[in-house]
This record gives sequence, structure tokens and C-alpha cells, in this order.
Amino acid sequence: MEDSRAKKIKQIMERKEDHIKICLDDPVQARKVKTLFSDVHLMSSALPEIDFDDIDTSVKFLGHKFSAPIMVGAMTGGAELARKINGNIAEAAQDLGIGMAVGSQRAGLYDKVLAETYSVARKVASDIFIGANIGGAQISEGFSVKDARKLVDMLDADALYVHLNPAQEIVQPEGEPTYTNVLSGIKKFVDGVGKPVIVKEVGFGIDPDAARKLEKIGVSAIETAGMGGTSYSAVEYYRARDMKMKMKERMGLLFWDWGIPSAASLYLVKKAVKIPIVSSGGLRSGLDVAKSIAMGASLAASALPFLRPATISADKVRETMEEFIYGLKCAMFLCGCKNISELQRAKYVITGELKDWAQLS
Ligand SMILES: Cc1cc2nc3c(=O)[nH]c(=O)nc-3n(C[C@H](O)[C@H](O)[C@H](O)COP(=O)(O)O)c2cc1C
Repeated sequence: MEDSRAKKIKQIMERKEDHIKICLDDPVQARKVKTLFSDVHLMSSALPEIDFDDIDTSVKFLGHKFSAPIMVGAMTGGAELARKINGNIAEAAQDLGIGMAVGSQRAGLYDKVLAETYSVARKVASDIFIGANIGGAQISEGFSVKDARKLVDMLDADALYVHLNPAQEIVQPEGEPTYTNVLSGIKKFVDGVGKPVIVKEVGFGIDPDAARKLEKIGVSAIETAGMGGTSYSAVEYYRARDMKMKMKERMGLLFWDWGIPSAASLYLVKKAVKIPIVSSGGLRSGLDVAKSIAMGASLAASALPFLRPATISADKVRETMEEFIYGLKCAMFLCGCKNISELQRAKYVITGELKDWAQLS
């Protein structure tokens, strides 16, 4: 029993380390599919009638104040390097007043030392919005509400993220493509965890049908995590290749660009539901954030751009965050929006491929 537990912990730690290393060293982003935020054009104002310094980017999300509608997306925990990454992200997020989520916390339930690689975030950042995280596939395996509460308590988290990742599970060497009863499992979390539940994808996008079902069972918000940025079939492709698992390797290549482009996922989910939406997947600038807010998102999250800085220092993470916030402010100035509610009403035009997606109902 102890042996199989130790084996499981070791396996999870190695997988977490692989994910970090691969995302740092290898090309892991979509190759052919784009986010389609380049098909979103905010109306430029030649007469903004505001001063840059008066722009207020602050916003409230699920009752929490953010200095800007920006989150660092869920990434890691469960490995030694992850402690440093989560600590640096948390320190910078606390300084600037924005939010963050940690990566899937299953490992933290098995081992106290591994739990600290997640809880470091709250230790460093006492005030900010922090999201706990668990996978939908784990729910199908019988992950209980009691376990979910432990994840939230581990971080004194403000919400629980459940990530949906069917496309990752089919390529991942140890993948568990078990998605029966995930929706009813999420409903149990909604009813029993005592914190808002946010459901996200991991880079393949939330579709409008799923969004409607999630809203119906009482999920508090949806993070779209569309295609065009980090591709988790790409990440798992490298692992399958190194483990010489030929079929999985081929699936990684076949589904490298699978998914709903991020701007399309946001557009369609916004049309489908009324609950708050976090836009994510390949967001690489404050301009992408501004476009997301104009399209109806309450917040925008980005993950990969923060990974390398977080392996270095909190200062480096802060620099990247500041660039996002400054870019957002510049876009707001150019649209003549002095606060986020005005940006939510900003005019925009959609063109090209995004227009095709937008026709779907
Ligand atoms: C190194 C790394 C690890 C990740 N691990 C998780 C995870 O454990 N749970 C999760 O919900 N998403 C995870 N993600 C997915 C991100 O939260 C995000 O949805 C995805 O990377 C797309 O955003 P991006 O293009 O800005 O990176 C991870 C992403 C990266 C880069």
C-alpha cells in the first residue's frame, strides 16, 4: 500500500516537472490555429477626451476587487520547482493586486510537503484572489466533495477551478479519458464545497453547449481557455515521444491544433450564458485583455508568458504583469474608455474567420 502511494507521488512529481520543463524548452503553442483575437478590431477614437493617468482599470469579480481584470492562469504545484513558480507569481500578484490560480492539486492531497508547493501562494499573498484546482477526469474517478474542500482549505482559496481536458487525456501517456458523470460531479462540488466553482478548459476551448450545462448546474463562472496559445496535446506529445509510446505520439501530432480558437470560444460562450466569463488561451498582451473585456469577459487570464519569469524572480513576473496592465490602459485610452464598464461597452468589429465562428448559434 505504502509502496503504491509512494509510486503514485513520484509519478505525479515527475509529470509536473516534465510539464514545466517542456513548456520552458520546447515549442508548445498552436501551430496552425490562431486565437483569432486578430479578427477583433476595437474602434479607435481620435478624440478620447480623457487623460491617460485618470484611467481606472479596477474591477470586481465574484465579490473580489482586482486592480486590473487580469489573472495568471492555473499552472503548477506538486514539484520542487513549482514551489518557486507559485511563490514568485503570488508575490508579484499581491504587489499589483491581481489574481492567480494554482495547478491541479491532486498531488497535494497525497503528501504534506507537496501541499506546500501550492499553499506557498497564500502564504506569500494574503489578500489576492487565489483559485484552487482539480481535474474533471478526477471527478469521474470518484474524487469526493470532502477532498475538494481540502484543496480549497490548502490555500484558503477564493474559488475552486475544475479543469476539463479531454483532448489532453487522450494524448497523455498516463491519460485517463474518463468523462462519464463529470457534470453531476461538478454539481456536487457546486452544492458542497462552500466556495464558487469556476470551470475551465486547458487550451482547447469551452463550447457553448457545455457552457449552458455548466450554468444550469450553478457554476459561478467559466474560463474559456481556447486554442491558439499553449496546446496541451503538444506538451503531451513530447512526453509520449520520449516514452516511445507511438500511438500517443501520433495522436499528439494529429490533435496539436485541436480546439476552438480563444476569441471564438469567448464569443460563443458569451452568447450562450449570463454568468461571468474569464477569457483565456493564448492571451499575450494587454490589447488581448482589452478585446476580451469589450467582447463581454469579466476577467482575462494568461499562463505561459508568466512561466519563465516565475522561474527567475517575483520582479520578473511583475515586469510581465505590468506590461499587460500598461497595454490594457493604452487600449482603453485609445478607445476613450476611462474605466472597465466603459470598456465593456466599447465598439468593436469582427472580421475574417471569427465571423464564420460567430454565425454558429
Ligand atoms: C506549465 C503549465 C501547466 C499547466 N497546468 C494546468 C493545471 O494543472 N490545471 C489547469 O487548469 N490548467 C493548467 N494549464 C493550462 C493553463 O491554465 C491555460 O489554460 C493554458 O495554458 C492556455 O493558456 P496560455 O496559452 O496563456 O498558456 C497549464 C499550463 C501550463 C503552461
